[in-house]
Amino acid sequence: MHPDWQDQARSEVQQVCGNCHPKFETVNKLKTLGMILNEVIRLYPPIAVFRREIHKDTTLGGIAIPKGTQVIFPTLSFNHDTSLWGEDANEFKPERFSEGITKAAKDDSAAFIPFGYGLRSCVGKNYAMLETKVALAMILQRFSFVLSPGYVHAPTSFVTMFPQHGAPIILDNLHSDESTV
Ligand code: HEM
Repeated sequence: MHPDWQDQARSEVQQVCGNCHPKFETVNKLKTLGMILNEVIRLYPPIAVFRREIHKDTTLGGIAIPKGTQVIFPTLSFNHDTSLWGEDANEFKPERFSEGITKAAKDDSAAFIPFGYGLRSCVGKNYAMLETKVALAMILQRFSFVLSPGYVHAPTSFVTMFPQHGAPIILDNLHSDESTV
């Protein structure tokens, strides 16, 4: 959907990794790719809500929360909140992460919570981001791609967020004349 960002990400991969397999050291230098991935999981957090059960009577921000209450953290709503992200909250703008995660939202370093927050936040966070970066870097080295005209934008959430009707993509092999859907 954003060929300009695809081009930028590919240039970065070519500059940092050349045609070699991405390695731990080189993947960590893929800043543009990291910004793009952060923006993707801000707009479409794979886990749209997470919960906590309150184990003892608690007062939080002046609100009394009795023991046994289930508190829901709506990641999706936080990540789209214009008071945190600005009027362009619903737009795809990876540049908002150019100075890192803590500076991306208006004045709240805890606004970006696709992996949860605090002591029980996701233990697979770094692994998930690393694996996605490696996979995308390897795809960018080999293919350019566009969404198929048959794509229907219908993100939905059932356990995790996913494209309801799939995401058919047309791949163009950069090293041959063949296209693959
Ligand atoms: C993009 C991929 C992923 C996303 C968005 C994600 C998101 C989350 C979220 C929102 C939580 C709940 C955090 C909380 O309650 O504060 C969580 C917990 C957890 N995640 Fe992930 N996760 C991802 C990938 C992974 C992977 C790859 C692994 C394992 C290799 C993993 C293992 C876990 C575990 C074990 C917990 C429970 C942590 C605890 O309760 O102490 N996650 N994840």
